[in-house]
Amino acid sequence: MYTTEFLDLPPLRAAAGTVRLPGSKSISNRVLLLAGLSAGTTRIHDLLDSDDTRVMLDALRELGCAIESEGGVLNVTGLGGSLRKRQARLFLGNAGTAMRPLTAALAVLAAMQGGEFELSGVPRMHERPIGDLVDALRQLGCGVDYLGQDGYPPLRVRDGALRLGGPIRVRGDVSSQFLTALLLALPLASELGAIDIEVEGELISKPYIEITLNLLARFGIAVGREGWSRFTIPRGSSYRTPGDIHVEADASSASYFVALGAIAAAGAPVRIEGVGADSIQGDIRFVEAAEAMGAQVARGANWLEIRRGAWPLKAIDLDCNHIPDAAMTLAVMALYAEGGTTLRNIASWRVKETDRIAAMAAELRKLGATVEEGTDFIRIEPPAQWRPAAIRTYDDHRIAMCFSLAAFNPLAPTGSDTGVPLRILDPKCVGKTFPDYFETLFSVARTRTEDIPVLTIDGPTASGKGTLADVVADALGYHLLDSGAIYRATALSAMRAGVAPDDEAGLAQLAAVLPLAFEPGHRILLDGEEVTEQLRREDVGALASRISVFPRVREALRERQLAFRQLPGLVADGRDMGTVIFPQAELKVFLTASAATRAERRHRQLISRGLSSNMDDLRRELEARDARDQSRSTAPLKPAEDALLLDNSALTIEASMHEVLKWWEQRRPFR
Ligand code: DC
Repeated sequence: MYTTEFLDLPPLRAAAGTVRLPGSKSISNRVLLLAGLSAGTTRIHDLLDSDDTRVMLDALRELGCAIESEGGVLNVTGLGGSLRKRQARLFLGNAGTAMRPLTAALAVLAAMQGGEFELSGVPRMHERPIGDLVDALRQLGCGVDYLGQDGYPPLRVRDGALRLGGPIRVRGDVSSQFLTALLLALPLASELGAIDIEVEGELISKPYIEITLNLLARFGIAVGREGWSRFTIPRGSSYRTPGDIHVEADASSASYFVALGAIAAAGAPVRIEGVGADSIQGDIRFVEAAEAMGAQVARGANWLEIRRGAWPLKAIDLDCNHIPDAAMTLAVMALYAEGGTTLRNIASWRVKETDRIAAMAAELRKLGATVEEGTDFIRIEPPAQWRPAAIRTYDDHRIAMCFSLAAFNPLAPTGSDTGVPLRILDPKCVGKTFPDYFETLFSVARTRTEDIPVLTIDGPTASGKGTLADVVADALGYHLLDSGAIYRATALSAMRAGVAPDDEAGLAQLAAVLPLAFEPGHRILLDGEEVTEQLRREDVGALASRISVFPRVREALRERQLAFRQLPGLVADGRDMGTVIFPQAELKVFLTASAATRAERRHRQLISRGLSSNMDDLRRELEARDARDQSRSTAPLKPAEDALLLDNSALTIEASMHEVLKWWEQRRPFR
């Protein structure tokens, strides 16, 4: 997951390949609650691991459910209808799929068995309505109090006296989650008799109710219904675990990759595994909307393959009530269509993670689109000219994910061949449902190598360039090339293989096939063995310095270094990064520090590794190495002509990083 302040996407040009998507949020949180209410253990396969499921799991744990993960399977042992704890405070983040059903279930349990539970969330959760659900629960005799503003969380549920009079009435036109919450929770009260629920107003997002009914059936509860207005929970219903249950991949998450195929898979398709024609999720019908816009789709029970069909895409005018979440993806596809696209009947967008109609309109306009918004519709005309934009994401995962598709603007009928880059602010908001969204996107997206941004940090030995490159790469979410490590690994490999330090041909041969791997957490493997520490040895560094003078060795390592230039970008550190390997880099920094400062830093480094050294000797050695590096005929150490010099003798790492990021920002088009 990218936890950076922003993530810059260069213009992207094509997509192909296979993705496996994380489990459905809607199914995951319903299954968790049902497992938590059942007696016995439910083995849940492919559960989504995200912010919204984490708060649900924490709540169940707090309530006394036993939860263990075993391989990729989560075992949940439920309460079996009786409270283990009479008091708890539950924090539910911004997860509507946890807040609403837990409120209902705990209100019923507290009314029947006694207890007091507080449910709260992030500030936005406290602006999302829950009054219709509370009204319904009060009809049943549940005790529910508002702890903040009437009609909104936080809430307290407490003792009450359940009574079954007539049918329970609930509004269906604000959020279908109120009805879902009642359907999931009221079987708890069904020992009193059959329970009727009557929906007032036109029920929105019906497909989500279908998921609820489907999963209730899997847990042994057969809800009767008349159309979409009356539902009956039979007397004496009780939750029975199905034992094993598989969570299908999230159909809303699939929408980004369906759109990706429609926009950018002009050759081989984008293939999605884990969700397909047999899905019980309503958002699977996004596929039909994408087809209407021109996507070419092949499908199986649990897979989809998407290619570009019509191009440019066809503008549509669509009632999106059945696919409220995935419809946001259509709004971004509209940027690639001929003419204006209208998405209707989407009033529920205004009460989601953010006011999605306002947010989508504001951000689409930044790209150059002409947007008209109403209380329950949005109309989008593609940009006449695309503009680079920093997209605000409003702590809304779907905004971050759907806007990433705007990076394919070089393909747009109104786009320019050079394309414009895009900035996604606060990319970590995708953690709500799809923590690895951007990594998954990059695994199938293609661009021209020269479009992938590179920032180089060159400089003499012990100038601190490695540390600086590391923190800059972290701040930008870019890959890191530590070219020194590659030379050091070649040296270590030569020592082990007994290749002489002056055998240029032998060393070059070794360098060309070096079985080197860079693993997460800065671990470096040589032929499968971790050598991270060994590479830092003084004798290895000294040999690296000697063998790096050979042109054939340098040539043999060139391709390997170029290969680090991957999406979304690269920070490359080493003495010739800006001069030889990436002469076209957007920003080149030449980092220096006085010989005295560098000697002192090296001295401290050695002490921290338990090695003794003499500062004057170190300084003399450094000066000698500088002289050799500067005077050698191949790739001598010198600043690139267009490099910016940074003397960090008196700067902290933080301060140096801020200086480099400031320079970087000046070269980006997002001001
Ligand atoms: O940066 P370092 O100390 O890890 O590098 C080890 C040696 O490798 C250094 O003395 C010179 C050589 N090197 C090089 O010639 N070109 C690079 N891009 C990186 C390192």
